[in-house]
Amino acid sequence: MTAIKESSVRKGSMTTPLEIASEVRWHDQKVSTQMRLDAMEQKGMCIWFTGLSGSGKSTLANALDLALHGTGKKTYLLDGDNLRHGLCQDLGMQEQDRAENIRRAGEVAKLMVDAGLVVLCAFISPYQRDRDRVRSLFDEGQFLEVHVSTPLTVCEGRDPKGLYGKARVGLISDFTGVSSPYEVPVAPEFVVDTSGETLDYAVSRLMATGAGLSS
Ligand code: ADX
Repeated sequence: MTAIKESSVRKGSMTTPLEIASEVRWHDQKVSTQMRLDAMEQKGMCIWFTGLSGSGKSTLANALDLALHGTGKKTYLLDGDNLRHGLCQDLGMQEQDRAENIRRAGEVAKLMVDAGLVVLCAFISPYQRDRDRVRSLFDEGQFLEVHVSTPLTVCEGRDPKGLYGKARVGLISDFTGVSSPYEVPVAPEFVVDTSGETLDYAVSRLMATGAGLSS
């Protein structure tokens, strides 16, 4: 956010992001969304995986991505850990930073869906408000929320990156499920508990019932 404010400073005067926004006009594009979708021969959509660290979001998103790719779908996977190496490397784990992280990821996903891709997004995204804001970017049926509901005890038992261990002894702050909240999704389209369901079964369930995925 600081970067936006700094770039808004013009010689001798201060221009706020709000003022800039009111001066910026939307440009219509000659190649329409429909023309792009026709060329892609598919509908774009966003499949959003939310859940605790270690819940299996990335594993599930990767497996679904591979399955969709195998059926000829054009896909892309946006993963929280990966985006934090680039686009979101300036953000931390406090509530405001997570909100900005999810806002950026949602806007990128929106552009990719507009381009006709099936976009899979794996982010802890612990706050309902942030997830709702992403959902609101998309049309009805274009956004599927998948709650990877694997219980905290199981995620902590797995601790694939050793982060729960560090969080428990205070070496990592604001750790989701330990020292930072996770708000359980109110109305997700899918719920997958990876401690009670095999990866193959979860993928086949998503492929079978995910709107537009098998068409
Ligand atoms: S989100 O909350 O903003 O959606 P995101 O999915 O991008 O988070 O990143 C989560 C990843 O950051 C985790 O998979 C984990 O590897 C790492 N991480 C580092 N610090 C924390 C923390 N305090 N809480 C949760 N995850 C953390």
